[in-house]
Amino acid sequence: MVRAGAPFRKRFRFLAAIYTGDQNRNSRDTVCMATMTYQGLDVLYSRHQIAERVAEMGAQITRDLNGEKLVMIGVLKGAAFFLVDLSRAIQADATFDFVAVSSYGNGQRSSGAVKVIKDLDQPIEGKNVLIVEDILDTGLTLAYLRKLFAQQHPKSLRIATLLDKPSRRIEKIDADYVGFSIPNLFVIGYGMDYGERYRNLPDICIMAPEQPE
Ligand code: IMP
Ligand code: MG
Repeated sequence: MVRAGAPFRKRFRFLAAIYTGDQNRNSRDTVCMATMTYQGLDVLYSRHQIAERVAEMGAQITRDLNGEKLVMIGVLKGAAFFLVDLSRAIQADATFDFVAVSSYGNGQRSSGAVKVIKDLDQPIEGKNVLIVEDILDTGLTLAYLRKLFAQQHPKSLRIATLLDKPSRRIEKIDADYVGFSIPNLFVIGYGMDYGERYRNLPDICIMAPEQPE
């Protein structure tokens, strides 16, 4: 039950302003959903919406695999929650690996540089590889990883991202599987952090813009 008090009206105006101009299907859904809150935060996608979309993505990936094996590579730490759920929605003989990269500082701004902190444990030559990422933002991370993994000559190399912020792109890169395409918002929860906090929020929530220093 939504109360139409002053805080609600203020939040609604804020969100309506953010979403103006974005015409894609998922963003339209978002305008309705964003009036939900969790622990005082505006919810962009609820745990139920996430589960539904992840199931659809898993079914699509299963179809595309056509009975072949898969290696899922999660990008730590943000993609861990998504990988765990997505992997259980894929019906295939799957194995897992993880890489860790640093591309962000402790705030909402990217440092621009990508560095591998933890590399793959197993070779991927000749394998069907699916890179699993929480969010495709500037594209610097995935462009770097795709190039790195392609050098190992996998049989196929695809990308699944839960969220995509196409308006922020610096590197020209698209994911093969996208959960939700979103406007330029900073989001937290379901694995995504702000200064390492909030990863364990069950819903994807909107982080208010940083205050000027
Ligand atoms: P990119 O290299 O700019 O595409 O961004 C890669 C990483 O930045 C993502 O995998 C996230 O870990 C992080 N990131 C980008 N946008 C957000 C956000 O809105 N919330 C939390 N993390 C983000
Ligand atoms: Mg990430």
